[in-house]
Amino acid sequence: MADGSLYAWWCCALGWALALVAADGFLVDITYVESAVAKGAVCLDGSAPAYHLARGSGSGENSWLVHFEGGGWCNNVTTCLQRKRTRLGSSKEMATQIAFSGILSDTPDDNPDFYNWNKVKVRYCDGSSFTGDVEEVDPATKLHYRGARIWQAVMDDLLAKGMDKAENALISGCSAGGLTSILHCDRFHDLLPPAARVKCLSDAGFFINEKDVAGVGYIAAFFNDVVTTHGSAKNLPPSCTSTLPPGTCFFPQNEVKQIQTPLFILNAAYDSWQVIIRGVP
Ligand SMILES: *[C@@H]1O[C@H](CO)[C@@H](O)[C@H](O)[C@H]1NC(C)=O
Repeated sequence: MADGSLYAWWCCALGWALALVAADGFLVDITYVESAVAKGAVCLDGSAPAYHLARGSGSGENSWLVHFEGGGWCNNVTTCLQRKRTRLGSSKEMATQIAFSGILSDTPDDNPDFYNWNKVKVRYCDGSSFTGDVEEVDPATKLHYRGARIWQAVMDDLLAKGMDKAENALISGCSAGGLTSILHCDRFHDLLPPAARVKCLSDAGFFINEKDVAGVGYIAAFFNDVVTTHGSAKNLPPSCTSTLPPGTCFFPQNEVKQIQTPLFILNAAYDSWQVIIRGVP
């Protein structure tokens, strides 16, 4: 349950439901960011990071929607080794095409606001909501904890493909990807032209720091392990890490008040993953 797969299933249900009503979406090819490898910006297994890009057109030509894939986290060597062999830890395991639907749809009736924007789905293969950066690679496990480097390498690649001329830009994401949108919100804004309108959207990414039914702070310990394993502290917003322990800065409740960029939070009051992980029968 800790890998958040059930949650990822649930939180994207709205997008999938819309996709079923409309069409199956349109298929978009994968782009491997090969230039990232030399910078050490790689997936858990050392493979190149990846995204899918559908070019904008017409009035959407200079508008960019960058959506981060979700899929829980890995918090220690054991869980990261498990993940390394899957599409959430290796671009070698990713499907080379995925369907864009919901907020990524290109159909005006389904997606009136963003259908003709440049639309990007950034694949998730680091297990840290794109926050990790550990230089050392253990020769025994060959695990790379480099999520923050991936984030930067992907952004650099998109800026070079025209995002540097963005007039409108939105980052979004679901579950662990929704948390990514929060943790990188102001940093994303900083990359774009000063005149650009920039906003952030988190879908089911507001994980709360609450004890479980047994009175144990499981999620707090889990996030603390994620931050420690991935060396995330230096990549979390300094406005939080300057006053609180880094592990607690993975919780949006300790971030959102200081975020300067407009941030829209979408979260169910009875979020099934957050209920289940606390052991509620
Ligand atoms: C790794 O994390 C998982 C999930 O929290 C836990 O069950 C396991 O005991 C941990 N393993 C080690 C070696 O710490």
